Amino acid sequence: MPSARSFSRHPLPSYFLLLLPLLYSLCLADHLPRTFHTLSDTHLKQITQLSPPQWTSVTSGHLEHLLIPRPSGSENNTLVQQYISSAFSSLGWHEDQTPFTDDTPIGPIKFNNLIYTFDPLAPRKLVLAAHFDSKYFPTYPENQFVGATDSAAPCAFLLDLAEALTPLLKERQRRVTSGQALLLDGLDEEEEAETTLQIIFFDGEEAVKDWTDTDSIYGARHLAETWETTFLPPSHPLSKRRYSPTPTILNTIDVLILLDLLGDSNPRIHSYYRDTDWLFTQMSDVDKRLRQEGLIDVEKGEEGWFVDFKMRKGMIGDDHAPFLERGVSILHVISNPFPKVWHNLADDASALSLPAMRRWNRILRVFTAEYLSLIPTTNTPSQRNDHGPYSRSADELVRYSSI
Ligand SMILES: *[C@@H]1O[C@H](CO)[C@@H](O)[C@H](O)[C@H]1NC(C)=O
Ligand SMILES: [Zn+2]
Repeated sequence: MPSARSFSRHPLPSYFLLLLPLLYSLCLADHLPRTFHTLSDTHLKQITQLSPPQWTSVTSGHLEHLLIPRPSGSENNTLVQQYISSAFSSLGWHEDQTPFTDDTPIGPIKFNNLIYTFDPLAPRKLVLAAHFDSKYFPTYPENQFVGATDSAAPCAFLLDLAEALTPLLKERQRRVTSGQALLLDGLDEEEEAETTLQIIFFDGEEAVKDWTDTDSIYGARHLAETWETTFLPPSHPLSKRRYSPTPTILNTIDVLILLDLLGDSNPRIHSYYRDTDWLFTQMSDVDKRLRQEGLIDVEKGEEGWFVDFKMRKGMIGDDHAPFLERGVSILHVISNPFPKVWHNLADDASALSLPAMRRWNRILRVFTAEYLSLIPTTNTPSQRNDHGPYSRSADELVRYSSI
């Protein structure tokens, strides 16, 4: 039985491969048509069953550590950074931090973005992001605002995603580096592994006072500017394949998927950008399939999260803006209209919906696995005794393959 059902958005003739270097040099943005490998029903189920298990309450696990007032520059903000950092270091991901100070309406504040990359040497990245700061309010009781949907829950989804997919990423990396990369049904693992997963936690998304161009998205503006002026070394595959302009870190981003204002019931998600309409459709299709397969609990009237209406006018100001301006492809996954509790003390644990959060976890796991062509593989017996540091993941894979 084929392990992955695959289809191509743009069926390509085989001589296309010979044209790749040329196309690379011609394309300003590095958006090669991507084959999206749709998981088989069995693999779909296996991905949803990966560890960690489904959340049992809205404050179980990560949210307990994230749901505190955590405005930029505060001690609590640092505590949240330390929590996220330790979670990723135990997963073995590469960490970058970008500490910097910026002027705000209440004086200089220290900000710090956290960036995690599974394989820092991979030439391309799928990036998922959310902001971890909460909005600053000067006085009690508003200063106890914890921003559950804004954006503690999206940060928790990203932590869950990294935990669930790390064993699969490691297992694939092990196969690739040991010359055992799989060739399955139009899927070449060695090639697929050139696109890695990166997760960004932005600091300073919130305006300190009122939202303006200079009082908002402090972390995202800093990072987009830094990456736009950080050129890739001549040894980087993108440098070799292109002539001008000299590629920067921004050129290594396939797409930036920004999550914001999620975790409550019945969000409305739209597609905003033509070049990622197809990804919006893929995400919507993942949701539909999970519902059809009975792999997510859907409350009555909650079928229509993904709205089949293209939002082209105006733009929601958010962390994606400085990247969008610099030509990065964006998928903005944000509830529009905003949650009713937006920037209100009521945006706490009680605003979160457990079924909605479980549904997001599963959608994101499957969507990301399909984008990266990650499949829960069946290990052959000869491979089982040789997985070094990844024995836990290998055991899991073996277990899942028998479901
Ligand atoms: C920091 O978080 C705790 C909850 O862990 C909260 O009680 C406290 O008020 C927060 N500190 C500030 C300055 O907001
Ligand atoms: Zn906000």
